[in-house]
Amino acid sequence: MHKRLQLIKQYKKQIKLPSKILSFYKSKTILVTGGAGAIGSNLCIMLSTLVGRNGKIIVLDNMSAHLGNNPADFPNLSNVLFVKGDLRDEITLKRVFRENPSLIFHLAAFFANQNSVDFPELSAETDVIGLIKLLDYSLMNNIEKFVYASSGCSIYGSYGKLPLKEDFMSMHLTTPYQINKMVGEMYCNYYFHQYGLKTINCRFFNSYGPGEVPGQYRNVIPNFIYWALTDKIIPITGTGNETRDFTNVNDLVQGLIKSCYYSEAEGKAFNLASGKETSINELANIISKKLNKKLNLEYVNSRKWDTKKRILASISLAKKTIDYKPICNIRDNIDDNINWFLDNFDNIRKYADFPLGMNSAVRK
Ligand SMILES: NC(=O)c1ccc[n+]([C@@H]2O[C@H](COP(=O)([O-])OP(=O)(O)OC[C@H]3O[C@@H](n4cnc5c(N)ncnc54)[C@H](O)[C@@H]3O)[C@@H](O)[C@H]2O)c1
Repeated sequence: MHKRLQLIKQYKKQIKLPSKILSFYKSKTILVTGGAGAIGSNLCIMLSTLVGRNGKIIVLDNMSAHLGNNPADFPNLSNVLFVKGDLRDEITLKRVFRENPSLIFHLAAFFANQNSVDFPELSAETDVIGLIKLLDYSLMNNIEKFVYASSGCSIYGSYGKLPLKEDFMSMHLTTPYQINKMVGEMYCNYYFHQYGLKTINCRFFNSYGPGEVPGQYRNVIPNFIYWALTDKIIPITGTGNETRDFTNVNDLVQGLIKSCYYSEAEGKAFNLASGKETSINELANIISKKLNKKLNLEYVNSRKWDTKKRILASISLAKKTIDYKPICNIRDNIDDNINWFLDNFDNIRKYADFPLGMNSAVRK
């Protein structure tokens, strides 16, 4: 069995999804935008096991975040249909809606902060205009539920009281990505109130796990692992005492699946996080111990927009409303991430480095 599928099946066994959730998903047709991405690929593998032989997962992805063929090592699954196309494109939207999905998980995005600082209009085109088109198509096609991948950093800004709770929002965001993702939540709420489309906003916090290839605009964990394995200098922006709420991708997938099931979640927003803080220095230490090598750390200035000293999410609301139960912790579960790197290292090495000033997201 493909290793990614095996890992996800193991996780599914551990969390013991109740039978009402299993029967909700059985035989469904589900559209996942951004399904080739770091989080989307894990979600699609899990959904493929849930819908079974009579269901179908349609992945809509323009592959802008990827170099080469199947860099995220997506397994060959007979109930997953890949449609390569852009969510802003009407012909592509007609193609995927012709499959009659009843649920949508919208994960496609112009990823992420620095990329959007470099290309603000492209960020808004995908994250705002693309979303509006998808919401309109969802309405016209009587979609049952629409789950939106929001982002904690896009709602709470830098000055929220910890742990970050859903009732706070900041008007002082520091990148176009954050602004556009927040606007995305507002549009989902608008379609909920105006048209009764059942939208759910899931706020993610720094995800890690198999399927994320490092790169210029990617997250700290895949980049640290990659630099450590290639004996490169590892730049730490700031003092290294900054903290993040690192969340295992399987726990995020659990939250997505549950938020789509529970009717109490409709029209609401939830943090999906680990509820624990880890500093960047601790993270470097964990990776160093796991790889059994001394890392070549270099402390450099923070990027101007990166003003968040600490991030810690409250997960009480998700626990209460959707029975969210994260079971992973970074110290143990980073192993799967590192092993995935080691298993796929030739591919990852080939696709990891994008030319400077040019990102995968703007490649034609
Ligand atoms: N990774 C995190 O830590 C994190 C944190 C908060 C929020 N999020 C949100 O979660 C979602 C998934 O994140 P990810 O880490 O998997 O990102 P990702 O970049 O790996 O995945 C996004 C996918 O969307 C695709 N895409 C981009 N523009 C598109 C377009 N116009 N049309 C069709 N497909 C397009 C990309 O090719 C990519 O496969 C995003 O919406 C992101 O904003 C992620």
